[in-house]
Amino acid sequence: MNASTNAGRNVDAAVVDLRSDTVTQPTAGMRAAMAAAPLGDDVFGDDPSVNALQSALAERLGFEAALFMPTGTQSNLCALMAHCQRGDEYIVGQFAHTYRWEGGGAAVLGSIQPQPLNHAPDGSLPLADIEANIKPDDAHFARTRLLALENTIGGKVLPMDYLAAASELARRHGLARHLDGARLFNAAVAVAAAEGGDPYAAARRICAHFDSVSVCFSKGLGAPVGSVLCGSRELIQRAHRSRKMLGGGMRQAGVLAAAAHHALDHQVTRLAEDHALASRLAEGLRGLPGLTVEAPQTNIVFCDVDKDIAAALVAHLKAQGVLATGLYKLRFVTHLDVDAVGVDRAIAAVRRFFNA
Ligand SMILES: Cc1ncc(COP(=O)(O)O)c(C=O)c1O
Repeated sequence: MNASTNAGRNVDAAVVDLRSDTVTQPTAGMRAAMAAAPLGDDVFGDDPSVNALQSALAERLGFEAALFMPTGTQSNLCALMAHCQRGDEYIVGQFAHTYRWEGGGAAVLGSIQPQPLNHAPDGSLPLADIEANIKPDDAHFARTRLLALENTIGGKVLPMDYLAAASELARRHGLARHLDGARLFNAAVAVAAAEGGDPYAAARRICAHFDSVSVCFSKGLGAPVGSVLCGSRELIQRAHRSRKMLGGGMRQAGVLAAAAHHALDHQVTRLAEDHALASRLAEGLRGLPGLTVEAPQTNIVFCDVDKDIAAALVAHLKAQGVLATGLYKLRFVTHLDVDAVGVDRAIAAVRRFFNA
């Protein structure tokens, strides 16, 4: 591997990996923070680095309490189980991670029924559809207890006025509100860029519409592992019980929490660079026949292309040292470990495929 460090980035000259923002290596500063972290047994609540991360995030996002988890999947599941009982139902998007991409965990492990809804083109769930799918209090139906949203969703930022309206609707019907904020800070950076202000304040404004929020540190923020669930003290106590049951009680977890804490302090504003790289990529891919490029709002570029072409294109790119995914649509994700040179290589490789 021919990796060079470029403004904190580990840019691999051999491969431009745009499959996901989860593929990053910890920066030198992050590794130093991990090495220096004071540790204890977090199952006893004794790990100072875990406790510091939990308090810092809860405070920054405006919640009473927070809980460090190994993964976003576990954090979302603990949230769903904290909000819902056996036989309850949550309203969720067809393409939301908490419905489509978590192995059916809510149903399998929580006995919680999903009510998936189609997304509007902007990624939101139409308010009328949410309202129409809240079940009456009748023995025939599961009890609708929770609205679960995701922001960003497929790289799109849910509009702030939508969040306010969805939250108000949920409240009016007595539903709790959970946000899968795996990429909360990407949304916050985009909101801050559009409206002014700093991304931490924007993140807090987004979170004000939810009873619980799960934030991932192992995506754009560049930590190797870890998510944090935020909520009220009481909700986090319930989630703590589920985390234990699900095998998520980690011991000297501070070595991981320190990486996440470093990311919270040093990687948030930098996400704007990933967004700029995504725009550069989208710009470079525009105008190719058979490839429809969606304008990225954050760090994810989706392209519509014929299914057979997508598979051939992904294979062609791989042979050229550029990695992307093509399950539903062709997808490229920018992150800490790619730079403009890598993005330009990806553009050139796609253009070669189309002989353009
Ligand atoms: C939106 C979203 N939520 C949750 C998760 C789950 O995170 P993890 O892979 O840490 O379980 C992911 C992972 O890609 C995600 O993209």
